[in-house]
Amino acid sequence: MPSPYPFLENLNWLRYHVRPSLKSLDLYPNRLPRVAQSLRAAGEANARVVFAGDLIGYYAEERPRASPDLRRTLNDADRVWINLEAPIAERRKAGRSPRTFRFKLSEEYLDELWQELALDPKKLILNLANNHIADFGEAGFRSTVEYCEKRGIALTGRAKRETLGTSAGPIAIAAASEWMNFADDPVGRSTVKWNENYLDELELRDDEHLLVFPHWGLEFRHFQAAKYRDWFRRLAQGRNLTVVGLHSHVPGPIVREAGSICFQSLGNFLGLQLSWPTRLSPLLSVDFAFRGGKCLGPTGYRMDFHYLRRHGGILAWCKVEELSPSLREKVQARLSLIYPEESRSP
Ligand SMILES: [Fe+2]
Repeated sequence: MPSPYPFLENLNWLRYHVRPSLKSLDLYPNRLPRVAQSLRAAGEANARVVFAGDLIGYYAEERPRASPDLRRTLNDADRVWINLEAPIAERRKAGRSPRTFRFKLSEEYLDELWQELALDPKKLILNLANNHIADFGEAGFRSTVEYCEKRGIALTGRAKRETLGTSAGPIAIAAASEWMNFADDPVGRSTVKWNENYLDELELRDDEHLLVFPHWGLEFRHFQAAKYRDWFRRLAQGRNLTVVGLHSHVPGPIVREAGSICFQSLGNFLGLQLSWPTRLSPLLSVDFAFRGGKCLGPTGYRMDFHYLRRHGGILAWCKVEELSPSLREKVQARLSLIYPEESRSP
């Protein structure tokens, strides 16, 4: 399969996969904690949106068990947004090989997953702006859209500017991917591309809130390089943005600039991964305020971490507190490094 990354990145890819990197931590001295409230005054109405990271699938389409906590977090949301990092095929294939980087999810697997999560598909929004959505070409893309349309699942990532509907009003959206594994495929060519000038081309009304989903940066890095930090810093000036980044498979820092906030990476929701940091599944709950049907931006947020583990032969999302003492210590140390308890510069 073609790689969209630079040569050196391909050489080091496995090393980072096995041991995700903390390099560039010093670029983010003012990291925010996992929970924040009162970011702005409340509006007349509120809507909670939950965001989850990459949904790729598990070996042989094994379905993890969901914890009551995880189900509750999803159920408390008005809408649930997940990055669909694989096209949807019609049928589950017996003995499906896990040793490929061309991903595909079956309709049956996803239907069972929504049931396990106790999640009404009509609440769902799946994102297509990522590097794997063209893995099975136009046919794979078409069957993905058909599956979602049949179940009333909304999609993002097909146009430069889109809308996410909530019970309190619409939120403007711009989803784009920096990478595409099959860039020459018609799906790849028509997918929205992220680059440093991407949002400059979008006409934003004064103080309009925009929810941005960049599928960006390098994989298996908790902290992305300076150009991504600088992009957010520049764009945040004079704009009202909430940025929710994806692609690195590990959670990243939260930073704030002027009136905007950036969740640099949500990591994985359900993926085929090798190292313990990639098994962290954050759910990001954001409360958006509305006045006169217009979105003002987030009033607060909370990140809940679940861990995808096999225990007693059962694959399940569990709470960090339920992990073995040695793993729990590692996870808690990593999370407190990325998300300090108290923000040094809110
Ligand atoms: Fe990706």
